Amino acid sequence: MQFAGSHILSVRQFERDDVERIFEVADCMVPYAHRRRVTDVLEGAILGSMFFEPSTRTRVSFGSAFNLLGGEVRETTGFEHSAIAKGESLYDTARVLSGYSDVIAMRHPAERSVAEFAAASRVPVINGGDGSNEHPSQALLDLYTIRSEIASRGRTLDQLRIAMVGDLRYGRTVHSLCRLLGQFEGVQVVLVSPDALRMPADIVADLRETGHKVLESDQLEDSIAHVDIVYSTRIQEERFESQEEADTYRGRFRLNQSIYTSHCEPNTVIMHPLPRDSRANARELDDDLNDNPNLAIFRQTDNGLLVRMALFALILDVVDQVDRHARDVNWYTGGRF
Ligand code: NCD
Repeated sequence: MQFAGSHILSVRQFERDDVERIFEVADCMVPYAHRRRVTDVLEGAILGSMFFEPSTRTRVSFGSAFNLLGGEVRETTGFEHSAIAKGESLYDTARVLSGYSDVIAMRHPAERSVAEFAAASRVPVINGGDGSNEHPSQALLDLYTIRSEIASRGRTLDQLRIAMVGDLRYGRTVHSLCRLLGQFEGVQVVLVSPDALRMPADIVADLRETGHKVLESDQLEDSIAHVDIVYSTRIQEERFESQEEADTYRGRFRLNQSIYTSHCEPNTVIMHPLPRDSRANARELDDDLNDNPNLAIFRQTDNGLLVRMALFALILDVVDQVDRHARDVNWYTGGRF
């Protein structure tokens, strides 16, 4: 695809070459994300960050990624602080805000809302999550993480074996990740969920039609026995009619160190888009996994910066200029990475 000036709304717009190009650019962002070098390639550019649903890491990492490239961020969070609360349409909001920004990252509770906004925007828009539909930048950072985690285990994205666990019906991260995996060869996906929270049938059908193997199950222990990755998800309580309904599924599939030791292959990688639900009745990933070196959840969040920097650099067409506008950092950066 042509990245310069493009919206990023769905992973469906990517072919395998595009994903590989994003990863190649993300690799080049390491010195900046790791605070060895600074670049001001986006000096003067403004990111409009519009998050109409709760967000910590997606919102902050989009902003930090833009800052790390030298740009500035203007934020709106929540409907109550926006003119949408006064009845303004997405069309009008898009026309206005795209006059103030060079690129926009947006999250909204309604499916396809970000695409509707993008159609009226005068600048590129990145979908930071539209209801339970898609979360393309998360799927890219997940896949980037999977690729780097399994490389040291002698495995590749082709022939990947992955279990996705939890709320597969409303979880937009797993929707996007499944669609993205469809670009690779011979992937085996085990989908573990309560019957009512199964992966949408069209996503399963697309994977099968493109030659991948998909199994569905409501049993955790057997499903995680022969996979490279266990990708756990939170019950998306905000999408349910009532908390009582969400409560019936919360805590249904809990992975902890003892289940991991007895059922998983020794180097199985544990992932989660975060936030993990740490309340006592949930704990889909127990804290006792925190010292497990295969727990990749904070490597995922770190990689989010690299992938989001890559998206900005590609969309604003500055990939070849990043290093030319760079120098070493002035400050002590410690041994964080
Ligand atoms: C996810 C989301 O918002 O879809 N979080 C994230 O962006 N990392 C997953 C979730 O909220 O459960």
